[in-house]
Amino acid sequence: MDAHALSLLACPRCGGPLDDAADEGLGCRDCRATYAMRDGIADLRLPADDRTEEVRRFYMASPFPGYPPRDSIDWLRARAGRSPFARQLDAAIPYDARIVEVGCGTGQMGLYLARGDRVVIAADLCRASLALGRAAAKRLRIDQVQFVETDIHHPGLRAGAFDVVYCSGVLHHTPDPCAAFGPVARLARPGGLVIIGLYNLYARLPHRARRLAARLSGGRWTPGDRVLAERSGQADRHRAWLRDQYRHPEEHRHSLAEVRRWFAGQGIDYIRSVPGALVGQADEQHALTDPEEDGWWLEDMLAQLGWLPRLAAEGGLFVTIGRARAGR
Ligand SMILES: C[S@@+](CC[C@H](N)C(=O)[O-])C[C@H]1O[C@@H](n2cnc3c(N)ncnc32)[C@H](O)[C@@H]1O
Repeated sequence: MDAHALSLLACPRCGGPLDDAADEGLGCRDCRATYAMRDGIADLRLPADDRTEEVRRFYMASPFPGYPPRDSIDWLRARAGRSPFARQLDAAIPYDARIVEVGCGTGQMGLYLARGDRVVIAADLCRASLALGRAAAKRLRIDQVQFVETDIHHPGLRAGAFDVVYCSGVLHHTPDPCAAFGPVARLARPGGLVIIGLYNLYARLPHRARRLAARLSGGRWTPGDRVLAERSGQADRHRAWLRDQYRHPEEHRHSLAEVRRWFAGQGIDYIRSVPGALVGQADEQHALTDPEEDGWWLEDMLAQLGWLPRLAAEGGLFVTIGRARAGR
């Protein structure tokens, strides 16, 4: 394994540094535990509780989000480039940053961000998703992403080592999202960015109504689900979206106030949300790292209600951005 990538991993049992013993896999310098490297993916996953194990099996049966049949580096960049958020994220990250994508699924965001001298660690619980991500990296000739099988609760990742910690669509699928946020936040170095994507308490409501319609119609009626319609010709991706959005065994929803409290509890200074929490201000007017001025609970609440139509197609996912305080 590349030495720089290896230096960003850690023993999931004791947090100690790892050595690459080639044929024997990875070994912890402190507690002497050993871990396999299989097909280029480090196995740093410890046995988990039943609910986490159920989520892992769920994604093993249908890796999310998957790749279309004829992808290419141009497809990857064009697809991400159509998202103003992905463009802003790329622009906010220095070209030599150490990035970790926690719960990367099939790894699209990690691959998109892997440019310049950036080093990307793409970590997930589900080996089937990681295998698709690694195969895509090889196909697209992206060599600065290291895929790692690990559980967010005991991450095989070095605490305090990352300039950017990105974790989207993951915490709301853990049994206790606030508790799972702790180990994720601790991965950021002082001054590092923490970027979290979650289902919003209010903006998820249209999707919950849609899910009810799907249930009552035996799965035939999913009104207004644009993503599902777009994927109708791609069996695997269609199935992955259907399962992820309509049949997930573990799903939670969160308000912006709640995430602000998580941030405060882990010594992360809140910067802003996407969409923004100031009514009447367009997101494109600001960089992702520009602090939001003058937020207060009433406006937060009104803004989140305003997200409802806008986020309906994406299932109500919003992003919160913060910066790790020094000496926390
Ligand atoms: C909805 S997918 C999101 C994938 C990707 N972040 C994206 O936005 O396309 C959720 C991912 O979180 C991963 N995940 C869930 N619980 C996890 C845990 N405890 N540790 C690590 N990854 C986890 C799943 O395996 C799955 O790949």
